[in-house]
Amino acid sequence: MDFKSDPPTLFRPAAEADLPALTEIFNAAITGTTSTGHLEVLTVKDRRSWWDSHLDPRYPILSAERAGEVVGYASLSPWSPYPVYEQTVESSLYLAPISQGRGLGTALMMALLAEARRLGHHVVLSRIWSQNAASLAMCRKCGYEVIGTQREVGLRNGVLEDCVLLQIILVG
Ligand SMILES: CC(C)(COP(=O)(O)OP(=O)(O)OC[C@H]1O[C@@H](n2cnc3c(N)ncnc32)[C@H](O)[C@@H]1OP(=O)(O)O)[C@@H](O)C(=O)NCCC(=O)NCCS
Repeated sequence: MDFKSDPPTLFRPAAEADLPALTEIFNAAITGTTSTGHLEVLTVKDRRSWWDSHLDPRYPILSAERAGEVVGYASLSPWSPYPVYEQTVESSLYLAPISQGRGLGTALMMALLAEARRLGHHVVLSRIWSQNAASLAMCRKCGYEVIGTQREVGLRNGVLEDCVLLQIILVG
């Protein structure tokens, strides 16, 4: 089934009032998947510095809202503090478990890339743990290319993990 058969989903700039829902969605990924670099759940207070780092309009967070509920979010972050990387950003996207696997991630990523283009960013990078087949498939579908794999850079529950680096060059 496609998410478009649900009540309409709105992609909009995240509001501060979304922070508890955004934290809950991120925590579901920490506990239920191996998709993040975090190992322990976070409180809303822990997540405040992340929120504050996105107050700069060049690095937005988009919330996906359905029937008044936030069901996912996507964000752009600086890739590096060095000024030479000014036009390069990193994308991130998390959906509530119930909203996964029905096309919403692809649609939200396309909205995020449109926003990145509008903001004048040139390159969007994404780091994805190699076992995250859904995220790799979603990014490829949205036009990202695999650049390479960083071998054994992660350690989770005693297991070394590879991280795949992808990028998309925004043109036009
Ligand atoms: C990864 C995530 C954002 C993808 O969003 P989604 O809405 O579930 O994905 P979509 O339904 O848009 O599917 C995109 C593509 O991935 C494929 N896909 C989805 N789930 C998959 C899975 N478990 N294994 C392999 N491919 C999968 C789909 O088939 C689709 O390709 P297709 O249209 O050619 O068939 C979402 O599943 C999620 O939030 N997961 C948990 C958090 C996470 O991993 N975030 C990314 C961190 S890097």
